[in-house]
Amino acid sequence: MDSFVIDGGRRLSGRVRINGSKNAALPILAAALLTTEPVTVRDVPALDDIANMLRLLEQLGCAQVPQGAEDSAGVIRLRTTDETVSHAPYEIVRTMRASICTLGPLLAKRGYARVSLPGGCAIGERPVDLHIRGLKALGAEITLEAGDIIARAPQGGLKGTTIFLGGANGSTVLGTTNVMCAAALAKGTTIIESAACEPEVVDLAKILIAMGAKIQGAGTPRITIEGVDQLGGTDHTVMADRIEAGTFMIAAAITNGDMILDNCPIDAMLAPVYWLEAAGVHVQPVAALAATGVGRARGAGSLSLTSGSATTGAVGGDDPLRKCVRITTDRVLRPVEITTQPHPGFPTDLQAQLMALLCLADGNSVVTERIFQDRFLHVAELSRMGGRLVRQGPTVIISGVRELVGAPVMASDLRASACLVLAGLAAKGRTVVNRVYHLDRGYERMEERLRSLGASITRVEEKVAATMCTVPA
Ligand code: EPZ
Repeated sequence: MDSFVIDGGRRLSGRVRINGSKNAALPILAAALLTTEPVTVRDVPALDDIANMLRLLEQLGCAQVPQGAEDSAGVIRLRTTDETVSHAPYEIVRTMRASICTLGPLLAKRGYARVSLPGGCAIGERPVDLHIRGLKALGAEITLEAGDIIARAPQGGLKGTTIFLGGANGSTVLGTTNVMCAAALAKGTTIIESAACEPEVVDLAKILIAMGAKIQGAGTPRITIEGVDQLGGTDHTVMADRIEAGTFMIAAAITNGDMILDNCPIDAMLAPVYWLEAAGVHVQPVAALAATGVGRARGAGSLSLTSGSATTGAVGGDDPLRKCVRITTDRVLRPVEITTQPHPGFPTDLQAQLMALLCLADGNSVVTERIFQDRFLHVAELSRMGGRLVRQGPTVIISGVRELVGAPVMASDLRASACLVLAGLAAKGRTVVNRVYHLDRGYERMEERLRSLGASITRVEEKVAATMCTVPA
């Protein structure tokens, strides 16, 4: 197992491109199961979760087609050529619970699916009752056997209907993607009420529509799908990763840096941008700067959501999901009070990263987690670094301190590991983040990209890191 050794206190500056979104790419790759024609997906990040999904799809008869010489990194060409195996086994699903998003496509296209129950994970229970509710409503017969979900379509196939898909904690992202994929090939019209509004659901709807699906309302709580007989192939570029973008924004802010983000999906992250601005972080759309690096932002406007949303000055590109933005920070960070919510609220996937930043705010912040009740494993580790945090059930009170101090810490899940890396970048002295395999699931070459921005961060084997916990005299 690898660790990161981070010597903190360096201001990050420079320019980084935001990669394609892991959470958009996973259901989009699974959608290739809905057709036997070729599907090309571009800007797919090179992550462990993606590799696991491609391994699963190959087992399901949907293999990668040899790359054309002209294909750049991140281009995945898939084609389903064998529909006889429709079992997503536990040994893959337990490593990547998002495998559940193959359930809807398999059921819709093949009339049968056997997918291992994902089980829980470090951030809490990960039930799939809403997925099952939605697929049953379309007429599927669903049983649970030996830890697997077994789903069968009725004679004549799935039938469209109206489904309320809301749960105790609100909407379900992958539950919505599963039902949307299944409904795309059902007979008749399906209405999904209380659908997830996440941008990744919208991106999936875009590729499904390009494949021939008839979908309206993606991105709103009510999605209407008119079933079609079959879907075809297409070529789709994955949206930029809003959680990675937010993570880099916080990396700039926590080191009082000055960073340019290319390919930033600013229009999908108005909530995190609002709260970062409230904390004293500035997110400015800028004209795409010359490749030479970070110049003074020309015509920099201020995407100041606190005073109207007009942006002034030139901005890079017209696509609000692929903007060029510059991140700077006030000298003193201000405390904020946030609660994680389904989109368009503050995303749970940025809660841990924001908490690292708030450890250095001038005052007391309050963070309440409403999506995953156990998503606080990073709190104890931040305390080891001198953070002052007190948990009361779903809420953590963070009393800002003047500085964090480097220490050996343990990553427990994907976003907690990002939080600890961010804290290490700002901390005085050396931080060793262990078990960074969690980070590799969702961030591509993170240490290389942070190093290119001026961070002192190296990847070493855990046993070597154990000998490096203190900075040599
Ligand atoms: C997606 O997970 C994301 N993963 C998660 O990102 C993200 O945290 C989550 O959505 C919420 O935004 C991918 O897209 C691959 P949910 P998903 O179903 O779809 C409850 C990351 O860090 N629920 O929207 O599995 C559930 O317990 C990962 O990148 C039910 O009760 O999450 C939770 O409280 C972590 N029954 C809430 O809904 C169900 O059947 C939201 O879960 C399903 C979910």
